[in-house]
Amino acid sequence: MHPVILQSIHLTEVTSTNDLAKQLAESNAAQSGTWIQADSQSQGRGQEGNTWESGKGQNVLGSLLWMPHQLEADKQVLLNMAVSLAVYQTVCAFTQLGVRIKWPNDVYVGDSKIAGILIENSIQGMFVKQCVIGIGMNVNQTAFENTKATSLRLLTGSMQLIDEVVQQLHFQLNVYLPKVAMNQATEITTQYHRCLYRLHTKGWFASNGSTFEAMVSHVDAHGRLALEVEGQIQLFGQKEITWI
Ligand code: BTN
Repeated sequence: MHPVILQSIHLTEVTSTNDLAKQLAESNAAQSGTWIQADSQSQGRGQEGNTWESGKGQNVLGSLLWMPHQLEADKQVLLNMAVSLAVYQTVCAFTQLGVRIKWPNDVYVGDSKIAGILIENSIQGMFVKQCVIGIGMNVNQTAFENTKATSLRLLTGSMQLIDEVVQQLHFQLNVYLPKVAMNQATEITTQYHRCLYRLHTKGWFASNGSTFEAMVSHVDAHGRLALEVEGQIQLFGQKEITWI
């Protein structure tokens, strides 16, 4: 299988690696398979319009530009799951205990977030024309404003080389993205569910101004979280629910 990642660009400071990947793609200055990495971002972005903060040179901050061949727009969920699995496996290569994928796109160790993913796709007709896969992974940072964050260093007690973490991440993306291209839906979804945070476990959620207890059942083919609420399955999109 051909690797997806073909070249890397490493910069000291950018606004956001996702934004730079899009700009380079627009001006035909970067081809599919280009990884853009930075030591720091002045306008790092997270999901739901949040900012992504990271100490300079301490963490993995990068985006992969990928133009998949004929990936149907309704298969975007496979891309999300495959990238989550690649990030999950990368974390597992450095620390094994309690690593989980938290729906929709985070990687947690125990109840602390170690990595976040921001995938921005452009669709043309029925197909995904271009994906910008942004990944932020906490490696050597030890103090966070968000008390729920952790890093490889906090978990293992030792510093890690950013380049080694990136090398592992590239290896895993080169394993999992071809599975998306080959539409290996059963394998991806089975693996994803095996690693899912709080699967078949009761937890508290907030939706539409109310809080309720529910059990995580699965993630459906459209990427929605299926919760069992009072014996009934209810489906929630990313913007419709929060974990509490
Ligand atoms: C999240 O958990 O909210 C997603 C965080 C994604 C952060 C990464 S860092 C590299 C890339 N560039 C960005 O501006 N965001 C992503």
